[in-house]
Amino acid sequence: HWTAEEKAAINAVWKKVDLEHDGGDALGRLLLVYPWTQRYFSSFGSLSNAAAIAGNAKVQAHGKKVLGALDNAAHHLDTVKATLHDLSDSHAHRLHVDPENFRRFGEVFVIVLAGKLGSSFSPPVQAAIEKFFAVVVDGLSHEYH
Ligand code: HEM
Repeated sequence: HWTAEEKAAINAVWKKVDLEHDGGDALGRLLLVYPWTQRYFSSFGSLSNAAAIAGNAKVQAHGKKVLGALDNAAHHLDTVKATLHDLSDSHAHRLHVDPENFRRFGEVFVIVLAGKLGSSFSPPVQAAIEKFFAVVVDGLSHEYH
């Protein structure tokens, strides 16, 4: 599982996460870089270009919801799978989200973090955050069968 160093790195990074905006920023990047993910959000209105995505209040609001779930996982590092169980169930059986998109979301989120953290985004910190997302993706993917 986690080393003390990994937990410390994740906690330190997580303190710098802006729960209000970073989720919407990451979700917006996902929608821009992987435009086929837009099909899950057909009720969100225009997502046709970067400006439309950035200015879309529903993207921001939804990003905040997603980040709330990640915040919960970050505070329960030893029980991520159980913490994300219900979300895994809803994404698998109600929302029918291809779980490959969880991995893609993790990647764009790491880019958002790297932009914020600058030189404190060291290789060990990056490795700990990548591991955090791998564990989150594993948890979210658990109910797919
Ligand atoms: C809804 C979390 C990734 C598609 C939600 C909700 C949460 C959440 C908390 C609201 C509760 C619910 O409806 O069950 C997460 C987390 C993710 C993630 C923690 C990854 C770290 C994704 C990805 C997609 C996606 C990658 C699609 C590309 C959706 C959709 C909804 C939803 C379509 C319902 C939106 C609505 O109509 O309100 N997610 N999600 N999620 N998620 Fe995710």
